[in-house]
Amino acid sequence: MSNNHIEVKPVSGFTGAEISGVDLSRPLSDDVVKEIRQALLKWKVVFFRDQNLDHAAQIAFTARFGDVTYAHPHEDEPIEGFSEILTIDRSRFEKRNGLRRSSYESRWHTDVTAALNPPAGSILRAVNVPSIGGDTTWTNLVAAYEGLSAPLRALADGLKAEHRFNAGLQFPSNSKLAQRIAINPLVSIHPVVRVHPETGERALFVNPGFTSRILDVSPQESELLLELFFKQITKPAYTARFRWNNGDVAFWDNRATAHLAPQDIDHIDVERVLYRTTITGDIPVGPDGFRSQPVEGELFGVEVPSALKDKLGKLEAEPALA
Ligand code: SIN
Repeated sequence: MSNNHIEVKPVSGFTGAEISGVDLSRPLSDDVVKEIRQALLKWKVVFFRDQNLDHAAQIAFTARFGDVTYAHPHEDEPIEGFSEILTIDRSRFEKRNGLRRSSYESRWHTDVTAALNPPAGSILRAVNVPSIGGDTTWTNLVAAYEGLSAPLRALADGLKAEHRFNAGLQFPSNSKLAQRIAINPLVSIHPVVRVHPETGERALFVNPGFTSRILDVSPQESELLLELFFKQITKPAYTARFRWNNGDVAFWDNRATAHLAPQDIDHIDVERVLYRTTITGDIPVGPDGFRSQPVEGELFGVEVPSALKDKLGKLEAEPALA
């Protein structure tokens, strides 16, 4: 594979492109990094087939696009020496949380939007994926915004929403997962429409995983507005579904997408192991200049979250590899 130029092949009308002609395990030229970034900004999620990354190489690749965050605000048992890596492993999830689920978050969601600065991007690497089932689906939140009628876009432009872990709780409040979340509660107010800091595009920045309510409206209005927005962002037209093979890598713009972990493997006995890294994000801004506000918790970045520090003892987040 040459690292001089990449090829970009869209996989659907609105969302996703497969990139070939690049070996992510080797140092990438600035031009290739720029081409990948351009493809990402345009297609919102890009896929690289048949790569050969280990943890260190995944972190190094992620670091070409920004500061690599700690694994996750609730990861209290990170991989030794690789505290930036979040393990997505259904057997581990089951053992740690006592819940049979394929992923940490099995509804449509944008990563960690309960934080004041949700990650700018996420990179997911497949290591042991099943031969049937286990696909991930992404949706394009810019296309979803642009697909609304003009009066609804104008309404959405002025709204704010609360995001929290546990929104629409799908697991018992005394479960280990709920206890983990309670150790580092994060709640933030974000604009419903986010202006993308690089493209200037407007994205419908709500998701069923974390958005709990719309502010300054009645509970009924909040529920109905969210139902409408969630239906809009999950319209099949805006989505692309990715069938994983071991070695594949997906890289999404977390400011302009939501995604859905697999829904079709919880009832069958298959292993599914992937590793995720995330890029430190900025604080969202709405079309009227409203900047997201914190309710609970701290910024999510390179440092081990302070709420986890006691539990993790002397573990400190390693600086991202250059
Ligand atoms: C994630 O939500 O980041 C993981 C998605 C998946 O397991 O497919």
